[in-house]
Amino acid sequence: MKIAIIGAGNMGGAIAEALLRMDGYKITVSNRTEGKLQRFAAAGASVTTDNCVAAKDADLIILAVKPWLVEDVLNELKANIQLAGKTLVSVAAATRGEQLCDWAGEGPQILTAIPNTAIANLASMTFLVPVRADEATTAQVKALFDGMGSTLVTDEAHLPAATALASCGIAYALRYVRAATEGGVQLGFRAAEAQDIVAQTLRGAVSLLEKEGAHAEAEIDKVTTPGGLTIRGLNAMEEAGFTNAVIQGLLASLSK
Ligand SMILES: NC(=O)c1ccc[n+]([C@@H]2O[C@H](COP(=O)([O-])OP(=O)(O)OC[C@H]3O[C@@H](n4cnc5c(N)ncnc54)[C@H](OP(=O)(O)O)[C@@H]3O)[C@@H](O)[C@H]2O)c1
Repeated sequence: MKIAIIGAGNMGGAIAEALLRMDGYKITVSNRTEGKLQRFAAAGASVTTDNCVAAKDADLIILAVKPWLVEDVLNELKANIQLAGKTLVSVAAATRGEQLCDWAGEGPQILTAIPNTAIANLASMTFLVPVRADEATTAQVKALFDGMGSTLVTDEAHLPAATALASCGIAYALRYVRAATEGGVQLGFRAAEAQDIVAQTLRGAVSLLEKEGAHAEAEIDKVTTPGGLTIRGLNAMEEAGFTNAVIQGLLASLSK
């Protein structure tokens, strides 16, 4: 499959990095300015500053520019190349499917994808909305993103919640890491050691959840001896508002 990535910033660059590590794709990366393109050329991608050159022969076009630039880029593509028969995947946040259809015109199949920055490490939680796409194309695009993590096909109404939980969620999880690391330093570990310990403990916690039928609270029960230290720690965290702080943070990050 030939894939054009338009916009080589944080997200487009992360997707390009991920795809360049996977077999079976021919990748072209396009960016407004040249500087960001060199590392992708070195990694084996074709690169260009002309979006139409990138998209002309592509089967799939991934649009990774800021939301307010999507309309201009689609107008540019629509005016210069044949979009019919291609698949367009926009990763722009808060861009309605209806607008994408309007801007792209009749031609392409259209999906919205909301990955998170862990996509560069093939560990994204990606949400996929088939805006105007048949089942086969949706399955094909899902398979592509499944190769870069985990993908949930959903509808547009769920995207604000999805973004809060999984895109903003990266920052929330990392803020927990920082808090636990600071606690670890106070308990006597060096900062780098404490961060490694917290990261490995999180990997362990996630691995417990990956077992068939696992439930977070059941795993917590296994480490909370009655009257023991863990339950004292958990209750002290709750007294400081841990669960409520997380829920309030998620609600605050819902886009209107
Ligand atoms: N970062 C995230 O966690 C995340 C998560 C989900 C979705 N998204 C979405 O991903 C999109 C990109 O975000 P980002 O954080 O990657 O932004 P970014 O780092 O600013 O990257 C955007 C890139 O687009 C390039 N660009 C601008 N105009 C262009 C044009 N006309 N043609 C080709 N390239 C052009 C910019 O090049 P120059 O720098 O040379 O101007 C820049 O490299 C946004 O719509 C955002 O909503 C981001």
